[in-house]
Formats: sequence, C-alpha cells, structure tokens
Amino acid sequence: MATRSLYAISWQIITDPELPALVRRAYSKGVVLDTWMHGEWQAKITPSAQRRLEVLAPDLAAQVLTEQTTWPAYPFSPLYLTHLFQAVLTSMALFSVHTQSDAERVSHSDVDHALATLQRFAAEEPLGLQAVVRVFHIIWPFEDLNAIRYFRRLPRLEFLSGVSHRPWVQELLADQLSLYLRMGLVKESLTGKGEMLRLTPRGRNFLQEFERILEESGELDWRANQQRWDIFRVMDYDTVFNTVFPNNIEDTQTFLDSLPIQPGMQVLEVGAGTGRVCVDMGLHERVLPGGQVAAVEPSSALVAHLQKKCQDRQVPNVTVVPGQAENLPFESQVFDVSMAVAVLHFTEVEQAVREMARVTKPGGWVGAALPPPQIDVREIPMAALWLRPLSDLAEEFGLPFGDRNGLPPGQVEEAFRKASLQDVTIRQLPFLMTAEDHRAFFTFFVKGAAFFQHTLARLPYRERVHFLYHLEERGRQIASQTQPAEKRHVYYGEAIWGRVPPA
Ligand SMILES: C[S@@+](CC[C@H](N)C(=O)[O-])C[C@H]1O[C@@H](n2cnc3c(N)ncnc32)[C@H](O)[C@@H]1O
Repeated sequence: MATRSLYAISWQIITDPELPALVRRAYSKGVVLDTWMHGEWQAKITPSAQRRLEVLAPDLAAQVLTEQTTWPAYPFSPLYLTHLFQAVLTSMALFSVHTQSDAERVSHSDVDHALATLQRFAAEEPLGLQAVVRVFHIIWPFEDLNAIRYFRRLPRLEFLSGVSHRPWVQELLADQLSLYLRMGLVKESLTGKGEMLRLTPRGRNFLQEFERILEESGELDWRANQQRWDIFRVMDYDTVFNTVFPNNIEDTQTFLDSLPIQPGMQVLEVGAGTGRVCVDMGLHERVLPGGQVAAVEPSSALVAHLQKKCQDRQVPNVTVVPGQAENLPFESQVFDVSMAVAVLHFTEVEQAVREMARVTKPGGWVGAALPPPQIDVREIPMAALWLRPLSDLAEEFGLPFGDRNGLPPGQVEEAFRKASLQDVTIRQLPFLMTAEDHRAFFTFFVKGAAFFQHTLARLPYRERVHFLYHLEERGRQIASQTQPAEKRHVYYGEAIWGRVPPA
C-alpha cells in the first residue's frame, strides 16, 4: 500500500467526530487499554493465562477479518490482529485483577473474564470488534508518540522493548513502529548513541489529534483519577493523613458535634476512605444503639482496607459500599444525616451535594467538612522550592499547577443552595498542614491524593516512576536544610451544613 493512502486513511479515521464517544463507551464498559498507567504495580501473566491468550486471540482476529466492516483497505495481517487482541485482553485482564481483586497474577479465568467484557462491548457496537481495533489505535499510538515526543529522541531499541513507556505488553511495538515509519510520523536517524527515533511534523499533528480525542473522551481525566489513592494499598493512609494534618482529628470532632447525629439514626458518610471518621473517630458509636453508618468509597484499595478495619475491630454497624458521591447507590430519602469529610473537592460538587440531599430524608441534614478553598501547597515555603520540577513540568504541558486544588470560595455554599438545602450554616475550620515529615507529605499530596496527577499522567510510564523517585529524594535533601517554621502553613477550611426541607 502506498504511504500516502495509508496516511490519508488513518487521518480520515482519527478525525472522525464519533471517536471520543467511542473511547468513552469502551472505558465505561471495562475495555481499558492503558494498564501501565496504574501506579507502580505489576502482575505476572501466568503460563496458563498465556496459553489461553494464544488460543483466544487468533479467533478474535479471524472474526474481525471475516466481519470486514470498516477501516477499508487497511493492511492488517491475521498475525498483527492476533497480537493486537492478545495485547488488548492482557491489558484488560491486568486492569481488572488490579482494580477488582488486587491479585498479583493474571490467571486463565481473568483472561476469560476480559474476553466476556470485550464481547459484551463489541456486541453493543455497530462496528462490532472493529470498535476495539479503533480504540486500540488511539490509545496505543498516543502512548508511543507521546513517549517519543517526551524524550525528544528515543533509542530505537528502548522503544521496541517498551521499557520506558509500556513495559508489560510489548507485542506489536515492532509492527507499530513500522507503521509509524511508513506513515511518516516518526523518523529514524543514526547517531553516536545508536539508532534514534524522533517525531516528524506529521507525527506531531497525529499526536495532537490523539490528545484531543483523549481529552474530549475524558480518558486523560480518567487515567489521572485512576492514580488517586491507589498508593494506599501499600502505605498507611491514617498515619500519613494524621501526620500531614496534625490537628484534623480535633477539627473533625468539632464538625461532627455540629451535626444532630443521634442514637438509632441512619447516617451516610461519603468518601469514607479508610474509615478514620466512621470507625476511628467514633461516628459509628454516635448512632448506637440501633443506628447504622453506610460508608461510600470509590477506591477499591480503600474499600478493601475499610472492610478489613471493620472486621478487625468488630464494628458491626458500618456497611462499606463501593460508589461515588455523584451517583450514590441508594434510594431517595433513606438517611437522617449525610456527610463528607475532606471529600467534596474531589467530586463534581453540585452533583455530589444534589445526590447527598436526594438520599437524605425530609428534615434530615447534609454536612461537609472542607479543606481550604484553594490549597496551593507552595504557601509552605519548603514545598514551593521542593516541587518546582513539578510546576515546571505542568508549565511545559500547558497544565495548571495542581489538580482539584481546593474549591473556589462559595462554590459549596452555592451547591447547598442549588440542592434546596435550608438553614445553611458555615463555620471556619483551621487547617494546619505540615511537611515536617517530608515522606508523609509527599505520599499524601503527590502520590495518594495525587494533586498533580494530570501532569504526571502525561509522562511515559517509566519516566513517571523515575521522576517521582527523584522528586522524593529532592524532598529529603531540602527538608534537611529547612527550618521547621518553613515547613508548615495554617490554611482555613470550612464546615458547612444544611437541612433538607421538611415534607
Ligand atoms: C482526603 S480523603 C478523606 C477520607 C475520609 N473522609 C477521611 O477523612 O479520612 C478523600 C476521599 O474521597 C474519596 N473520593 C474521591 N473522589 C470521590 C468521589 N467522586 N466520590 C466519593 N468519594 C470520593 C477518596 O477515594 C478518598 O477516600
């Protein structure tokens, strides 16, 4: 096939205005292809899973070839498509064992589960399995071209091994590279350091289009959010949080005292995390005897943690429910009080408050403890110096410094009013934040709560791991040369509560 037509076909396909919606549907149904973005974790593909992949992938490839739907004249060989489906199933299985079972091995049955998810998605798509081929050809070239752009010149061998940008699923890198070369997206040149790859102006155009699609489909947001809280699988969230915010237990108790929580009540805690509030601070005891706390939490790592905490501490009246504030998994009007501590700034706040009001009984209360309206960690002099490489990187990518950087003043109050809550009351809460334990500070802001994740998510995988390592090391050095007074700052947050109109 002539280079020009291959380029033209691909350009026509990737500028199809339907693509962002296709990516969104795929991700919402579990067809997830950027596994390598998920933290510093990896799982082993067992030999039986490998054998299963080798059986399933050629069948899927054959099916695509017989369906002959779209992507006309694209020269996919059966072997290329076989490798493609092997990679897709592997990515999906890695993602699901990571997020759902926390297992470290991908087994035969995980691959079957991935296949079932893939087939369910394809069955609902007009393009059938071709839809998967399309999504693949957005996500993976984005990763490949983005890595080459980031490094400016990437050794060919490094690219082919996937070591910098996708270390787990290397199939097809050679095939993809030959496609990029034929399409004129990438150029090879021989330097003193061996063969190097770099992007051509055409390659930059393509990358820009991929970026636009991922932006519009919400995939870049999705991958940034996936990073959040995951690290608390391996780090002790409670210690980290209580170290970085040494006064928070006292402040949260003051907030709980302001809510009319009584024995026998049904209380909802949204974004319960590890259960610091519902278990450690005794919220569950405030509703005894007879009352219940429903603890909603989106992070599977934290859900597992909280379930174990409730079991270990023999807390029978807390039920952990996986879910999100914006779409609470409850009927309307079931709780006497719905509350959230240090959560609303991670949500789509109007929708979250509307949902909290919906699930609360008429005459019941909705409350939230909020961190400062704008947490700019650079108010802590040490953090300003320490995190400069992050702010430089954000600037290079044209992104703001910090995501979910607190909520603008008044926004939560406005959300309370829009949700028709009455008697809205607001009190200031002091919020001491300290980087005295620089490891805890780093774990919370950069890794766990992931305030910089949109920036970090743009880095090729291995580079992100290296960058974080160096940044943490830089923190250690700066901490040893910084006076205690320069390591902390008192911000002011708010406690807010309001009442659902009585029936
Ligand atoms: C700073 S932690 C606070 C946890 C707990 N409330 C506490 O005080 O220890 C924020 C929590 O909000 C959760 N979260 C993030 N986005 C959320 C959303 N859209 N809906 C509900 N919870 C969310 C996180 O997973 C995390 O557990």
